[in-house]
Amino acid sequence: MKKEAQLLPIHIFGDDMLRQKLSPVVVYDDKLHEFVHDLTHTMYLRDGVGLASSQVGKNLRVFVIDLEWSHEDGKPEPIVMINPDIYNSEGEIEYEEGCISVPGVYATVRRPSRIEYSYYDINGIQHHEIAEGFKAVVIQHENDHLDGVLFIDHLSSLSKLKIKRKLKELQKTAVNGSNLRHDIYDPEA
Ligand code: NI
Repeated sequence: MKKEAQLLPIHIFGDDMLRQKLSPVVVYDDKLHEFVHDLTHTMYLRDGVGLASSQVGKNLRVFVIDLEWSHEDGKPEPIVMINPDIYNSEGEIEYEEGCISVPGVYATVRRPSRIEYSYYDINGIQHHEIAEGFKAVVIQHENDHLDGVLFIDHLSSLSKLKIKRKLKELQKTAVNGSNLRHDIYDPEA
């Protein structure tokens, strides 16, 4: 029988887990299915458009996205991407980004506007796709997580200065390289 999905605690800024380069998935088994189920469940409960495995403390190159879902008329259509690879990018787009792991911090990030990428789905089947605009932004943001990169790393030094105090505030709750948050909603949102 299928286990009920778990709400996983979120690793927030100041946690070493967020800075790790994650390991590729090699086995597509029930355990992976179960984890992806939990990851997706957690993304919806936290109101994210994407969530990467390091954000819930798992060392695997996996993330899930759903650009359309909202509480109001929510028909979930999650896309799970495993071992993704962005092999081409062009153009430029600026978008205000935030991150479940950096609660209360928002900043405009400049990224390529069009990407070509591949990934494996939950059944181990490889897909090649192209994304533009917001979808391209979200995939790049989540893909960054797999390499230990956060959206705040892309900011100019001036923008970084503006959020410095908030980051320090978040970092305060870190203990021995761990900074977990169990509450569901961003208290500052
Ligand atoms: Ni994020």
